Amino acid sequence: MTQDEMKKAAAIKALEFVKKDSIVGVGTGSTVNHFIDALATMKNDIEGAVSSSEESTKRLQAHGIEVFDLNNVDVIDVYIDGADEITKHMHMIKGGGAALTREKIVAAVAKSFICICDQSKQVEVLGKFPLPVEVIPMARSYVARELVKLGGDPVYRQGVITDNGNVILDVHNLDIIDPIRLENDINALVGVVTNGLFAARGADVLILGTPEGAKIVK
Ligand code: A5P
Repeated sequence: MTQDEMKKAAAIKALEFVKKDSIVGVGTGSTVNHFIDALATMKNDIEGAVSSSEESTKRLQAHGIEVFDLNNVDVIDVYIDGADEITKHMHMIKGGGAALTREKIVAAVAKSFICICDQSKQVEVLGKFPLPVEVIPMARSYVARELVKLGGDPVYRQGVITDNGNVILDVHNLDIIDPIRLENDINALVGVVTNGLFAARGADVLILGTPEGAKIVK
């Protein structure tokens, strides 16, 4: 199986977690794109979706799935999203697609977070994948200096503006031993909107695409 086939297998398996007549929280990325395509097969059984990015919104709507404003939704049973890295503690790095802030908001509302990814995303320690940090543009240089003090090497993601009108710093060379603490420390920096550590609120279920098919890890 190719990496993309493993992503697709995990995405299709996630349909088992979608409840009838519910509003589904939908993440962003190539794995989620497979999920959206699969979700379209049961679009008449769900009420609709809440989306974490303009990209996913377009894809959902192209399939005829209604996308709700989060402010008009009280309950999201499941949030389905990919990850750039995930540990056995279900802590993740996300934001490779720059959608981290909206992803974190929808994940916060959802009762459970179902992470879908191929097996290459499983790691012992987070940090080989550069940690994305969404920053208010005028704070970019200040936040970069503060991130150096925290031990990282921030790199400005040139040419990328988030759906919220902000910029991304990708922080290299972090050995993330205490993800919850680092998540909180970075979020406390003035000018940071949020960072791509999903540890304080990690995943509840991992669906891993492997050469033998999709496996559920809890
Ligand atoms: C989007 O901002 C990210 O958090 C994605 O969920 C993450 O990058 C995984 O993407 P892929 O499914 O494309 O690997």
